[in-house]
Amino acid sequence: MKIAVIHGPNLNMLGKRDPKHYGSLTLSDIENNLKRDFKEVEFIFFQSNHEGAIIDFIQNLKADALIINPGAYTHTSIAIRDALETIELFKVEVHLSNIYEREDFRKINYVKDVVNQSFYGKKYESYYEACQYIVDKMMNL
Ligand code: DQA
Repeated sequence: MKIAVIHGPNLNMLGKRDPKHYGSLTLSDIENNLKRDFKEVEFIFFQSNHEGAIIDFIQNLKADALIINPGAYTHTSIAIRDALETIELFKVEVHLSNIYEREDFRKINYVKDVVNQSFYGKKYESYYEACQYIVDKMMNL
């Protein structure tokens, strides 16, 4: 099973960002943990700070499912929302922090309606639960 994982802007800075919201793991730690915890999955990891690059990646995606943490684009990008809406894949949104219990502007979420499920507020566990959810769903297809 092939799962693509997209990390949006500033997620390359994990480890230096506020640990209260994002924990202390780096992006490599998160990716290594996923590979450790889901040996049966082939991961394709992609990080970009650029909206267009993320859209290009979504449009050209060849995978069985997608996990996306759009970072701040969650709250601003109709373009990423439209790209996600167009692809026929199992799609899961992930956030390390609980975006619904922070500033009001983070409560605006353009992607939640075009993904199959959302996991947030549990730092690395959000990714773990998202991946487990996909594996369970795909095995029951
Ligand atoms: C984030 C939450 C966003 O509001 C923020 O801009 C991020 C990371 C998260 O994983 O909690 O960069 O998506």
